[in-house]
Parts: sequence; structure tokens; C-alpha cells
Amino acid sequence: MNLIPSPVCTADEVEAMRVIFNECLEFMTKPLSPITHAQQHAWWNHELPKKVKKFKAFVYRDNEEIVAYSLLQWHFDGRITPIFGIKKSARGMGLSRRIIQHYLSEADGPLYGEELSSHAAIIKLNREAGWELIREENGVRYLYHLNNKTTYPDYQSMFEYWSK
Ligand SMILES: CC(C)(COP(=O)(O)OP(=O)(O)OC[C@H]1O[C@@H](n2cnc3c(N)ncnc32)[C@H](O)[C@@H]1OP(=O)(O)O)[C@@H](O)C(=O)NCCC(=O)NCCS
Repeated sequence: MNLIPSPVCTADEVEAMRVIFNECLEFMTKPLSPITHAQQHAWWNHELPKKVKKFKAFVYRDNEEIVAYSLLQWHFDGRITPIFGIKKSARGMGLSRRIIQHYLSEADGPLYGEELSSHAAIIKLNREAGWELIREENGVRYLYHLNNKTTYPDYQSMFEYWSK
């Protein structure tokens, strides 16, 4: 299967991202509701209060079809966090390894992440990709990725964040 990343630009891509996001709700570390078309539109057009400093969104195509998305967010406290999802019909083909490598290459610093303790596949894939476990609580594993940007983890920022 091909996997061609491109930054989200068109309304169709924004919508495809929403559909895949909604297909992945069961894997989220927080209980989230499906996003409506109107909410997605408002978010994309910056009509909602700004929750992050900046973000980068990508869709991934196999030929013409969008099969996955990723979203990197730069938070006001300096953290960078990723999220990605694969369309149900495109799972089981090993795409996530390539998506993880792609979003890591697009991040300009270390990353913070979360994964469900019950999600064996993502735990394995994240560990393989260099994510480190910081702590585990209430079914959620909190992670850190150096992303080859610094020699040592930024422990101060990590502990400040997780002690909130
Ligand atoms: C979970 C998800 C990321 C897996 O992606 P995928 O690339 O389709 O995964 P695959 O089924 O091809 O499996 C990839 C690897 O995980 C392993 N794996 C799959 N299910 C597993 C399980 N239950 N336990 C352990 N390993 C598992 C596979 O054996 C495979 O390893 P291998 O290549 O060494 O044999 C994908 O299904 C998805 O998008 N889920 C919804 C959204 C999500 O969870 N996003 C991540 C959190 S932000």
C-alpha cells in the first residue's frame, strides 16, 4: 500500500480527517464525542477559541484515497503532542509505523503523548518508535519522545506538566 502524506488544505481533506477521527474514538485516552461537520469547519477556520499555539495536520493517501490523518499540536506551555488515526478499512496493513515516523520528522522538538493501557498494538508500535513511558495511571500511559532533538529529556518541563 502507498502512503503519501500531504498537509491538509482542502475542505474535502478537512472532512476526511473528521471522519477518520470519529472512527478512532474508542482508542482515545479521553472520552470524546464525535465531531460534527459544523464543529470541524469552525475549528479549521479558527472560529473557536484558540487552544494551541499552532498545529500541523496531514492526510495520507493510498493512490487517490485518504486512508489516515495525523495532527501535531504545539501547546502554549511548550509541549508538542501528536495524534493520528487510520481508517477502519486500512488497518492491519502496518501503516502506523510509517505515520509515526512521518509525524516525528515533522515535529521540531521532543513530544508528549498518551496511549491506553489496554491498546496492545499502539503500545508495541510506540515503544518500537522510541516513545518512553513516564507514568501509568487509570488505564492511561503517559509518554515522552526525545525525537533526537536534545541529548537529555527535558525533565523539568516533563515533571511540571505531569504534576498538574
Ligand atoms: C492501532 C493502529 C494504530 C494500528 O495500526 P496498523 O498499522 O494498522 O497496525 P497493524 O494491525 O498493521 O499491526 C502493526 C503491528 O502491531 C501488532 N499488533 C496488532 N495488534 C496487536 C495486539 N493486539 N497486540 C500486540 N501487537 C499487536 C501487529 O502484530 C503488527 O506487528 P508486526 O508488524 O511486528 O507483526 C490502528 O489500527 C489505528 O489507527 N487505530 C485507531 C486510532 C489509534 O489508535 N491511534 C493511535 C493513538 S493516537
